Amino acid sequence: MEPFACDTLPGRVVFGAGAARTALADEVARLGVSRILLIAAGGGESVARDLTAPLADRIAGTFTGVQPHVPVEVADAARKQAAEVAADAVLSVGGGSATGTAKAVALTTGLPVIAVPTTYAGSEVTPVWGLTEGERKTTGVDAVVLPRLVIYDPELTASLPGPLSAASGLNAMAHCVDAFWAPGRNPVSALAAAEAIRVLAAALPAVSRDGTNLDARSDLLYGAYLAGTAFAVTGSGLHHKICHVLGGRYGLPHAQTHAIMLPYVLAFNAPGAPEAARQIGQALGSEDPAAALQALAAQLGLPLGLRDIGLREADLAEAAQLIEPAVPADNPVPAGAGALQSLLRHAWAGDPAATAGAAAEVAPGTVPAEPVPAGAAQGAREAAVTAEVLASFGGADAPRYLEIMQSLVRHLHAFARDVRLTEPEWQQGIDFLTRSGHITDDRRQEFILLSDVLGLSMLTVAINAPASAGATESTVFGPFFVADAPEVPLGGDIAGAAKGRPCYVSGTVRGTAGEPLPGARIEVWESDEDGFYDVQYPDGRTGGRGWLRSAPDGGYWFWSVRPAPYPIPDDGPVGELLTAAGRGPMRPAHLHFKVDVPGYRTLITHIFAAGDQYLDRDAVFGVKDSLITDFAEHPPGPAPDGRLINAPWTSVTFDIVLASLPPAPQDPGI
Ligand code: BEZ
Ligand code: FE
Repeated sequence: MEPFACDTLPGRVVFGAGAARTALADEVARLGVSRILLIAAGGGESVARDLTAPLADRIAGTFTGVQPHVPVEVADAARKQAAEVAADAVLSVGGGSATGTAKAVALTTGLPVIAVPTTYAGSEVTPVWGLTEGERKTTGVDAVVLPRLVIYDPELTASLPGPLSAASGLNAMAHCVDAFWAPGRNPVSALAAAEAIRVLAAALPAVSRDGTNLDARSDLLYGAYLAGTAFAVTGSGLHHKICHVLGGRYGLPHAQTHAIMLPYVLAFNAPGAPEAARQIGQALGSEDPAAALQALAAQLGLPLGLRDIGLREADLAEAAQLIEPAVPADNPVPAGAGALQSLLRHAWAGDPAATAGAAAEVAPGTVPAEPVPAGAAQGAREAAVTAEVLASFGGADAPRYLEIMQSLVRHLHAFARDVRLTEPEWQQGIDFLTRSGHITDDRRQEFILLSDVLGLSMLTVAINAPASAGATESTVFGPFFVADAPEVPLGGDIAGAAKGRPCYVSGTVRGTAGEPLPGARIEVWESDEDGFYDVQYPDGRTGGRGWLRSAPDGGYWFWSVRPAPYPIPDDGPVGELLTAAGRGPMRPAHLHFKVDVPGYRTLITHIFAAGDQYLDRDAVFGVKDSLITDFAEHPPGPAPDGRLINAPWTSVTFDIVLASLPPAPQDPGI
């Protein structure tokens, strides 16, 4: 066991359905207070009066001006009223804002706080206070604001609407998850936090399904209480530092902000806190805790992106700058402004949470089937290496470069941890890369092949050419494009030195609104009948490639040869990789197109021959159903352009639809 220090906080908790009605008066009497300022949030005022009827003689005044995030003006008004009625205690009935207002009074007056929470805020068991001045939220810790008595009555939460219950419960979830890396973390807080996660994860969907399920509401409240106790001793971690800025500066709704941010912060911190990620994963019953949290929020119908709750993209950079100074010094992963901005951007867009870190990679490595030498100390040693490398990029000027490199390091390190990479294995990897470099020259590109067979090329295509309604789909570029291919006129022949059955290719180029696109630059390239591109022959020939422009009505037509299926070059390291995987090197027969029209997105694609035997096992994953096209066979005779062909020939029609141009891609600044 590692040494640790931990505060155990005082305070009495009375928990039970109906406790607010049956126990409040006696419990207050035990405290010996007699001039109570009742603080009730607007809507909860009548409930509060009802509950306090048995102790009406002890209620000296009621403050109802509660507002979210406790603006300082509200705090001042409540303090003033406390002084006016000579209060000797404050009793809050309501959610986090009511409790927060009572704490604000206690902070300057020292009055004891009694809390009767009606939501799952958990703040009633923490010594944390928060105030908002203008757009900035300030928080602090002071034992004097810690409620002396908390009455938990699940019946009071029964009227909390489903969506609010869900948001409030996930807010509690944020407390226990953040408790794993907040500055005061310790084994005892981790115990409470893990149990809270387990209870909350089960109770939240149950309450969301049936808000009248009092047992589930009881569990939810219990989980929120446990979460609060953990958070109370650990203090705020990265997650809460982020949420305080987003709430205070941009007015984002508290609970929804927590619900959105939490999976991203978990994914971000997980590589540096593998043991925490393991425990959180275990409590959630998932090997991918960040994805599990995001799935939970989705199941509860909560918004998944900060943009959905009103944050503007233009605010991300400023938000990152504001958060950076508040990041706890011992956050398990360095969180400079660049990394924070990247984290916020993912959360803003509502991306899959794992993209903010390496949750998916961490989970399998930290919930191993076999014991691995990754006990807490070993895990910490490994995490220290990752953290140091991540920090070494901190001086980068270009935010995009920083984002890419830190993400790459996080994922590479998570990969090495995941498979417990041995030194000889990594040496083999280095050797593979070295040989790939040696075989690469201006005619052979082993790294493109590697990217292709790993599916990275197609993934990049998928990321950057999102299907836009009606536009022709893109596919992999491949290594055989040549920039200075010959121009051919409309109706011309690109076959050149390429041998094969004549193939008449025709179609139109249009925009997605159906507008014809004249003058489109259409570049095509293909293999010959033996499955070779011209550049694969050592004699420097040109054939099976060329470019032309579409006619005024957007039409185009040209001659080529029928393409053949072929193996991607497999006499190098990539070939070895395919063999070792039991994969074949073949690509189905296809004709490459690159189509450029100013103002439209450049299309890079192929058409594939329908019926080809390799359509379902393309070595580079490039086939898309919409690109499979009929190559019709014809006997000798006249072709559509009037030409008389005295041998069997082929024809194919391909109508091309271009999407109009999106904003220019970001320069990586590398
Ligand atoms: C091609 O179609 O030209 C190609 C694509 C990926 C790898 C090898 C070849
Ligand atoms: Fe090809």
